[in-house]
Amino acid sequence: MTAEQPTVAVVGAGVIGLSWARLAREHGWTVVVTDPRPDVAELVSSSVGEGADVRVTPDLSDAVRAADLVQENGPERLTVKQQLFTEIGAAAPAQAILATSSSSITASEIADGLTDGVAERLLVGHPFNPPELMPLVEVVPGRRTSPATTDAAVALYRQLGREPVVVGKEIPGFVANRLQGAISREARFLVQSQVVSPADLDTILRNSLGLRWATIGLFEGNVLGGGPGGIRHLFAGVGAQTGGIEPGVPATDAEAVERLITQVEATYGTGPDVYEALRVRRDRRTRAVLDALAADDDDVSDGRRES
Ligand SMILES: NC(=O)c1ccc[n+]([C@@H]2O[C@H](COP(=O)([O-])OP(=O)(O)OC[C@H]3O[C@@H](n4cnc5c(N)ncnc54)[C@H](O)[C@@H]3O)[C@@H](O)[C@H]2O)c1
Repeated sequence: MTAEQPTVAVVGAGVIGLSWARLAREHGWTVVVTDPRPDVAELVSSSVGEGADVRVTPDLSDAVRAADLVQENGPERLTVKQQLFTEIGAAAPAQAILATSSSSITASEIADGLTDGVAERLLVGHPFNPPELMPLVEVVPGRRTSPATTDAAVALYRQLGREPVVVGKEIPGFVANRLQGAISREARFLVQSQVVSPADLDTILRNSLGLRWATIGLFEGNVLGGGPGGIRHLFAGVGAQTGGIEPGVPATDAEAVERLITQVEATYGTGPDVYEALRVRRDRRTRAVLDALAADDDDVSDGRRES
């Protein structure tokens, strides 16, 4: 890595790639974006900006040539990612960290067929959408990823103001999306069973679990939920009752899914204008929460006892 600010090569300028590009630029990094779409230059200029610190090229090898970090955000298809990393591995500097934003494909799968020199520098750096606002990056090393690569990736994501967490084992969905999946399944079941409307479900979530989990974690909440008796008291009391609730199973046939989609669209609307209005509102409110938490001047680990 150079003494100056790092250079990131953003591969794929879709929803996630452009957001990574904005984040890196905000942090003073040099950003090189590549994507085969013909309008990529205009897209980057309008949504990331222009200047000596932003370069766009349709040539993947050219894009990664001077990268400290390659952050790949192409289509979620194994063969595409394998092909991309074959080319990236051949063109990127020998010390570059090679990360994929993949939500489901593991580094071990992508590394199949790659040389050891490339495979040891490849890992998943899975952001939550949008990466420029959501602090979490799940760092998921593959079987052939070197510990030095994992450490370097964590350091680079910290430099971008993110909160990287190294995931211990490769598992479909990693951690955050498995949790999201579990709640989404229950939410769909509850709406389909007419227990609650989509609007009311979202109101319930925002005003309870959402707010709680923006400030403390789940297990920390368990410790508090038991009062001075802590998690032991919770598990013996309320937890013993709620622990026996069977998870709901949502209907997944086409008709049921269509009904659910129609209900949600009727609640929030649909189309580019709705997307833009909801996106602007989401970003504003997320920033407000992040600013409030930063002003609290607390570190995430502060609530924990250091061992
Ligand atoms: N959307 C999310 O919520 C989310 C969240 C976390 C991670 N991810 C992951 O991020 C990645 C990108 O997702 P997205 O939602 O931004 O997708 P997207 O469809 O918005 O963008 C994909 C981009 O890749 C480009 N592309 C296609 N072929 C390419 C190639 N050969 N080289 C470079 N670019 C190429 C496309 O032109 C497109 O601009 C996926 O791996 C996805 O799993 C997505």
